[in-house]
Amino acid sequence: MDNYVRIFDTTLRDGEQSPGATMTSAEKLEVARALARLGVDVIEAGFPAASPDDLEAVRRIAVEVGALRAMRADSPAQRPPIICGLARASKKDIDKAWEAVQHAARPRIHTFLATSEIHMHYKLKMDREQVLERVIEMVSYARGLCDDVEFSPEDAGRSDPQFLYLVLGEAIKAGATTLNIPDTVGYTTPDEFGALIAGIIQNTPGVENCIVSVHCHDDLGLATANTLAGIQAGARQAEVTVNGIGERAGNTSLEEVVMALNTRRPVFNLVTGIDTTQIMRVSKLVSNYTGIVVQPNKAIVGANAFAHEAGIHQDGMLKHQQTYEIMRPEAVGVTQTHLVLGKHSGRHAFKVRLNELGYELSEADLDKAFDRFKHLADKKKTITDADLEALVADEFYQPREVFTLDGLQVVCGTMGMPTATVRLRGPDGSTHTQACIGTGPVDATYKAIDAIIQAPNTLLEFSVHAVTEGIDALGEVTVRVESRNGHYSFDTQTETDRTRTFGGHGADTDIIVASAKAYLSALNKLLVASNRAGPAETPAFVAHLQTA
Ligand code: KIV
Ligand code: ZN
Repeated sequence: MDNYVRIFDTTLRDGEQSPGATMTSAEKLEVARALARLGVDVIEAGFPAASPDDLEAVRRIAVEVGALRAMRADSPAQRPPIICGLARASKKDIDKAWEAVQHAARPRIHTFLATSEIHMHYKLKMDREQVLERVIEMVSYARGLCDDVEFSPEDAGRSDPQFLYLVLGEAIKAGATTLNIPDTVGYTTPDEFGALIAGIIQNTPGVENCIVSVHCHDDLGLATANTLAGIQAGARQAEVTVNGIGERAGNTSLEEVVMALNTRRPVFNLVTGIDTTQIMRVSKLVSNYTGIVVQPNKAIVGANAFAHEAGIHQDGMLKHQQTYEIMRPEAVGVTQTHLVLGKHSGRHAFKVRLNELGYELSEADLDKAFDRFKHLADKKKTITDADLEALVADEFYQPREVFTLDGLQVVCGTMGMPTATVRLRGPDGSTHTQACIGTGPVDATYKAIDAIIQAPNTLLEFSVHAVTEGIDALGEVTVRVESRNGHYSFDTQTETDRTRTFGGHGADTDIIVASAKAYLSALNKLLVASNRAGPAETPAFVAHLQTA
């Protein structure tokens, strides 16, 4: 058995499918590029049968990311990532998946059908013979289109192992090249899941010619432990998401599995193709785009993951780093530099530092970013790497703008009614001004924005945090809104529509401005999803949508 563990990233499918994680096509493409730079082996880019938009997003990723040559000079594969599309076990879904992924240099179709008694009886209303027959038929149909076919017996964690061996053996005969074993509901324990994988490897005819994969959910907080147990039992592909986002409690987190394999190499004796120094950057990108904030104490990528607060720990750290640190922060891309640039730094130094952080901007974008940097440096004496990352995220990792903030003035405090005057520029270039009072400055600002845009929504989450320490720190605001006009996304597993929510993110030294930008970025996504631009809907907006 080889010692290479393939990293199959499903942030754009199982992750994006989870409530609140909706991303626009442009954002998905940017995440896919970042995943390719990170060195993942497979990108599950989406579920093409869900909607024409989903199909188009997967197709664009296949064309633009799946055709890239040698992502990293030292990548073991020196090849572009495999681009995978998910399909239920139906010809229609498989055709859509193939339509989307066929443009990639290395396409894959991933099809699934449930094998647990509870799923077969209540959800599929099929018996074992019917399930077996459908698996054979659909895997061979997919294999007729694509040389690389993955099959997943959904809810394998609660399936009868003897039935699994039979189904998987037939899937191999029908042409499956990867067998993915999902613990769909996050039910198993590490011992059980490891034993399930060992049993499959021992008892499934033909398994030696396939890659066995593991796909865990975190309902009991065991996803990473179960994934590692599966890998120790012989699985050589791990299905994961960035920051562990995903259905309910989430999927296995990419960064946890990769860093466990890296940090405890003597225990596992296994390698991945991941450039771990990209981890933090991809984590921030996904958090900014989805509006799903990473909890501060999250392993590897949480804000406190490398912070040593307790005096006794700090003392130990000063004596020897390894007293309390099992990984170097730089290994995951957490830069320790404090003072990087200031007011007098030139464009060249700025560009060099951005390149060192992994950002390669076009000359035009660099000009824009440098302009923002100069403004920030006027307000803030020291500009750290974290500030630069927040600035780049705010300037470039935003959804296509429909409305932009053109001006904002607030009056607040204990002496009167909090009032906000907001000026927005619409898609046709015209400006709209509105003043509102509210319970506080953010409430007043949001009311004024609502009065202009008129996109009925409920604010589900609002969070603010300082990017760095100090009174002049950049404030980062993340929001999540739910449309009250009924936007739905299709859930592949429950086969139901669920209400879509939209995340937004903004950064500024003024937290009211950051709050306004975050809200606008979420509303812009909502407007794009509903193909409208509120009261300012004009031919210019329609043309803008068509060309974007
Ligand atoms: O959790 C699950 O079972 C899935 C399958 C579609 C692989 O996401
Ligand atoms: Zn899943």
